[in-house]
Amino acid sequence: MTLQIDTLPQLKQLLAEQRQQRRTIGLVPTMGNLHAGHASLVLAAKAQCDFVVTTIFVNPLQFGPNEDFARYPRTLAADKVALSEAGCDAVFTPAASDLYPAGLEQQTRISVPHLSTLYCGKTRPGHFDGVCTIVCKLFNMSQPDVAYFGLKDFQQFFIISRMVEDLQMPLRLVGLPTIREATGLAMSSRNGFLNAEQHGQATAIHATLQQVAEHIRGGERDFQQLEQLALAKLQAAGLRPDYFHVVDRQSLLPAHGQSHQLVLLTAAYAGTTRLIDNVTVDSPVPA
Ligand code: PAJ
Repeated sequence: MTLQIDTLPQLKQLLAEQRQQRRTIGLVPTMGNLHAGHASLVLAAKAQCDFVVTTIFVNPLQFGPNEDFARYPRTLAADKVALSEAGCDAVFTPAASDLYPAGLEQQTRISVPHLSTLYCGKTRPGHFDGVCTIVCKLFNMSQPDVAYFGLKDFQQFFIISRMVEDLQMPLRLVGLPTIREATGLAMSSRNGFLNAEQHGQATAIHATLQQVAEHIRGGERDFQQLEQLALAKLQAAGLRPDYFHVVDRQSLLPAHGQSHQLVLLTAAYAGTTRLIDNVTVDSPVPA
């Protein structure tokens, strides 16, 4: 059984007890509506740490005014069953009024400049500041030895890693591979918004990423042309692409002439639902 904790004093007491017993603490931050992607993080945490805490908090600070905060799925009962099955020790379900007692406007924010304005940050201004701020708060509240994130949100993981490095946060981060449906579609809490037709269209996202990766593995290096090709493919599948970029995996900046370790980042709308995905690919180094 996973122990549910919803106040900060309870969390602090529980984790102080664990630390006193010299048990290592693994943290898995989530917004709930858990699926196999989230479960994979909990399972990895459980394999590597003595005590695993998953947090479930739909963080208002990372949603824009016209985004899906209000309709984001909240499924705590089912989430608790999934967490118990994955062997999670405790789930922390704080209230927004406890995390943001003075409201959102007056909340101190953490910002990783520039990187937070690219790709998803361009369409979602302020999003990554909201993510960094809540993740920093969760780190400070639980002081984990290790925190687990999915590489499905590649830009998010990169930015959180930069925050941890820049601010010397005393913990280790682990990024884990994307869990996909049999169709290739990356698992996401937002997939539940898709009707059957949109679900079919959405499978073109991973297929397109794979096709472009294949071109790059074959030696193609006209990244702009590949981006145009990918946008056209997404559109032809009935999606509304937001962006598709060939990115340097070391810097998260657009790939340039010297870039060989790459990640393809994309976001596209199926109906009104915005989906993101990525694949990593290495460009063959010329002999
Ligand atoms: P959420 O979207 O709930 O995701 C929680 C964690 O699960 C993230 O680290 C995300 O990358 C990972 N995840 C989601 N789908 C996955 C998949 N298909 N395979 C593997 N991992 C997957 O990301 C957030 O919440 C929030 O921004 C958060 C970090 C909790 C801050 O509020």
